[in-house]
Amino acid sequence: MKFFIDTANLQEIQEAQNLGVLDGVTTNPSLMAKEGISGKDNIIAHYKAICAIVDGDVSAEVISTDYEGMIAEGEILAALDEKIVVKVPMIKDGIRAIRYFSDKGIKTNCTLVFSAGQALLAAKAGATYVSPFVGRLDDISFDGTKLIEQIRTIYDNYGFETEILAASIRHPVHILQCAEIGADVMTGPLSAILALLKHPLTDSGLEKFMKDMAGKWN
Ligand code: E4P
Repeated sequence: MKFFIDTANLQEIQEAQNLGVLDGVTTNPSLMAKEGISGKDNIIAHYKAICAIVDGDVSAEVISTDYEGMIAEGEILAALDEKIVVKVPMIKDGIRAIRYFSDKGIKTNCTLVFSAGQALLAAKAGATYVSPFVGRLDDISFDGTKLIEQIRTIYDNYGFETEILAASIRHPVHILQCAEIGADVMTGPLSAILALLKHPLTDSGLEKFMKDMAGKWN
């Protein structure tokens, strides 16, 4: 399972990269705005800075919603670095844009996916990644992990190569549930990744080991 971090914060990306388990980054317009990034030049510079930190794929989302706009923006973003994945919303023009990028060998991430039908369409259009939003479905009393299961079954039935990128991951249990189902990738905040480290028996066990051997190295 690949681990992506869902942030545009350079310090958090660097911290996850330093941990040695980071496979990529996802951003979205809200995450970019949270870092105070606006204007084409600043947006481009920020994506370049992210690409300089990580080894894997970096999802950069278009902010146009019409076909021509998405193509124009996506081509600029894709030319920045080979790590860039053009993130496109699940709308009619978005599906057309994904087909266009896919035919040109440009990687895509179909975002804002909330149903298996949408995921099927994204795969048919040749998306590199599909992003079902687990946490936002949970927020409206629908078990988001059920959608991951459904998509896994459909993609396996037909051998679709589109990778299931479980998005809107909020906590470590989401990560484990998605791993059990067989999501190819998860993207979540640094806090969810670091929470995987935690176990009280690890803490108490380590404390006892340290106490028992204190000062015995030399
Ligand atoms: C997907 O790539 C989105 O950036 C993200 O996972 C949304 O998460 P949220 O629901 O916590 O905003």
